[in-house]
Amino acid sequence: MSERKRILSGMRATSPKLHIGNYEGALRRWVELQNEGCEMFCMVADWHALTTLEGEPMDIRRNSLEVAKDFVAGGLDPAKSAIFIQSDVKEHAELHLLFSMVVGVGKLERNPTYKDMVSALSKSTLVSYGLLGYPVLQASDILLYKPYGVPVGKDQAPHLELSREIGRAFNSRYGEVFPEFKDLIDKDESRSKLPGLDADENGKLRKMSKSYGNCLYLNETEDETAARIKSAFTTPSKMRKTDPGIPEGCAVCQYLKLYSPDWEKQWAEDVAGERGCFQSKKELTEALNEFLRPMRERRAELDDDAILAILKDGADKAREVAQKTMDEVRAAMKLA
Ligand code: TRP
Repeated sequence: MSERKRILSGMRATSPKLHIGNYEGALRRWVELQNEGCEMFCMVADWHALTTLEGEPMDIRRNSLEVAKDFVAGGLDPAKSAIFIQSDVKEHAELHLLFSMVVGVGKLERNPTYKDMVSALSKSTLVSYGLLGYPVLQASDILLYKPYGVPVGKDQAPHLELSREIGRAFNSRYGEVFPEFKDLIDKDESRSKLPGLDADENGKLRKMSKSYGNCLYLNETEDETAARIKSAFTTPSKMRKTDPGIPEGCAVCQYLKLYSPDWEKQWAEDVAGERGCFQSKKELTEALNEFLRPMRERRAELDDDAILAILKDGADKAREVAQKTMDEVRAAMKLA
């Protein structure tokens, strides 16, 4: 019997590139849990990426492979953690179907995340049955593994609550199959809600998001990272070095706080008008490139063959657990 706490989490494969907001909001925590000895199941959610079909059709397999490479570059060790693609473990689809019989449509329609996603879609975009069922698929992702806990950002809290309710509804109808799991929600908002490099129309920092085009990506060269920081948002009223800065509202200062050991001194100098934004950007570039260097080195060693082998091994491990749970589910439902 293993005493290790089992953890399941996932990320959608909507883009081939993870940004440092994805790292700070999720991957960093997964790596910590792995290094604390947890039994990790880390999933690339490719089916979930299909729930909002906007724009050109995307190459989801390519996205998934690149995201998985970023997982490994970011510190997940395939020898310790199962890294897999959702669609490689078909049990997720079967459980999704069976769960869809125990959850009410009204409950799914009231899900705040669903409402947000629908209002973010352009008018011509299809609001699909799959989008409504997003949390039902997520419940199967989670409950198949009977995890101890699920680490996610705060925005995922409604999905975890729905997953728990679906598990309870199943158990009360068919008998105890799914134990309760814990939410492992990151409370440190400076990491889980990392701002992007720009500001909104009111001059306020907003979260890092692919749709705003304000990201710093994990897999870029040192020069690309430098160029992005060069055009980053700082204190708008600080025209000259001697003008006082407002570090709380400055993207560059926010990142210095996370990545530079000297940030307190740098912030004090910024406020006192003793340093210019140019200097802060230069020092941030050095600090970030230092931070990203080991990831770049690990990434450089990963070609498609290497990641395909890792993902096959991860899917085999995941399937072993998932099949056992499905045997119990079918027996409980008298399907077998
Ligand atoms: N919905 C999650 C997100 O948008 C991704 C996800 C899919 C997930 N399945 C999961 C997260 C299972 C945790 C557990 O980030």
